[in-house]
Amino acid sequence: MSLSRFCKFSVLVGTTGVAGALLFQQHRQTREWQRAARREFSRASYNSPPPGYRGPLFRPRLDFPPKPPSGDETFPWLDLDFKTEPERYLRTVRDYCLEGNIECDFRVEENGRRDWYHIPWMSFLPTGREPIHGMTMERPAAPGMLADTQRRRLQTWAVAFYNAPGAFVIGNVWKEPSRPKLDGVVFPEGTIGLKLLFTEGSAEDIPYLKESPVWHAAIAREPEAPGDRGPPVEMRLIQMDVAVRDERADIGWVFGTFVYHSSQSSDAPWRRLVPVCLQWGNDPDLTQQRYQEGARPVQTWNNPRLRDLGILAASRPYLGWLGRANGPVDNFKSCCASCHSTASVPDKDNKIPRGVPPNADQALRWFRNLRPGQAFEKGGTSLDYSLQLSSCTTQYNNWKKSYLQNTLLGTLKEWWLEVHPFPTTAPPSGKND
Ligand code: HEC
Repeated sequence: MSLSRFCKFSVLVGTTGVAGALLFQQHRQTREWQRAARREFSRASYNSPPPGYRGPLFRPRLDFPPKPPSGDETFPWLDLDFKTEPERYLRTVRDYCLEGNIECDFRVEENGRRDWYHIPWMSFLPTGREPIHGMTMERPAAPGMLADTQRRRLQTWAVAFYNAPGAFVIGNVWKEPSRPKLDGVVFPEGTIGLKLLFTEGSAEDIPYLKESPVWHAAIAREPEAPGDRGPPVEMRLIQMDVAVRDERADIGWVFGTFVYHSSQSSDAPWRRLVPVCLQWGNDPDLTQQRYQEGARPVQTWNNPRLRDLGILAASRPYLGWLGRANGPVDNFKSCCASCHSTASVPDKDNKIPRGVPPNADQALRWFRNLRPGQAFEKGGTSLDYSLQLSSCTTQYNNWKKSYLQNTLLGTLKEWWLEVHPFPTTAPPSGKND
């Protein structure tokens, strides 16, 4: 072999070796990244179980159905007209949601009747899941918001579920926990999103909560420091929210809410959830001025007995903006459908006001009737009204940033130590020299 050919050959071997080593290193880092993503994806809670707690713990159910719904299951509310029979529609949905879940106390992985699933990634941020029921922190309720007798600020925590048709879509997004697929999210008809909201308030604070189902949860000591969790405290069921995919609605979804009410005669406390309101559109034309002239929402049904039942406290004019649908724990400057219509990426300016109108002109931007698949912002990607999908994407992005920062810092540190090896033992002191 001539000298020049030998040189070329050596360079080739050398380059291949370096490239191989780099590829191997990259492959190793990718594997580690995927493993770390999988761990965080299914992490059960932000804080560990409280010391001394011996009861059951939250276990996220994330084995999403691999195939779309077969079409065999029937959804009885789809035979009812939500505009003419809103209460019956809501009760039918409520009974479907409670079936099998009362028996297992919403530890849905034990529901023998029907499959329900959780959302991944909800344990990364300080407002993330607590370890006993997997609840995440919601906006606290200011005094007077939930009842006239409520004198102190009260924390609200919540946990959400999807039935199988909805879970199929969630599973599709998260087939690879390290790489979400956010394009083309549209839930099929039959999907139900369900959310249970618990308050730390007692029946003294909120009289209609007498004998409401109680859960113990290791929540924040104070809302200002969401990550500083205390020992388990008693929380009471106050509200149950549903999002029902129904093509007949202007926005492709029907939102509805129930409030626990002690006046209901059922022996089973969970069945004392009263239909409060139902919404199938945002009433895009209903402005403050038209409201003052006497106009009211025509795409919301409100239970006419809300004031009598004490659910609509004197401190608020309505549950949702200008009479649109909302629950007592929600901000009355917003409403179910408006807040949920912002579920999309990017998610920079959607969160605030999420329906809270800063001025009359801007307000209606948050009260448009977007169709499933239509993003809130031009050029954005819709998450089809699922704010759980939007929350978990945010947590994923935060996790990814911190993981990459940590690994990058780690790699830089290793490299620095290689170039500038520090002595591992203490340098000899001048005294012994
Ligand atoms: C101001 C914003 C806001 C309003 C108003 C609001 N929600 Fe939500 N909702 C959220 C957020 C954020 C989540 C997801 C994160 C979580 O659960 O903490 C959520 C989650 C849910 C879920 C779980 C499935 C999903 O779509 O993410 C349901 C069901 C739901 N809400 C129904 C309702 C109903 C019904 C109303 C009205 C009675 C309502 N929401 C009002 C912000 C809002």
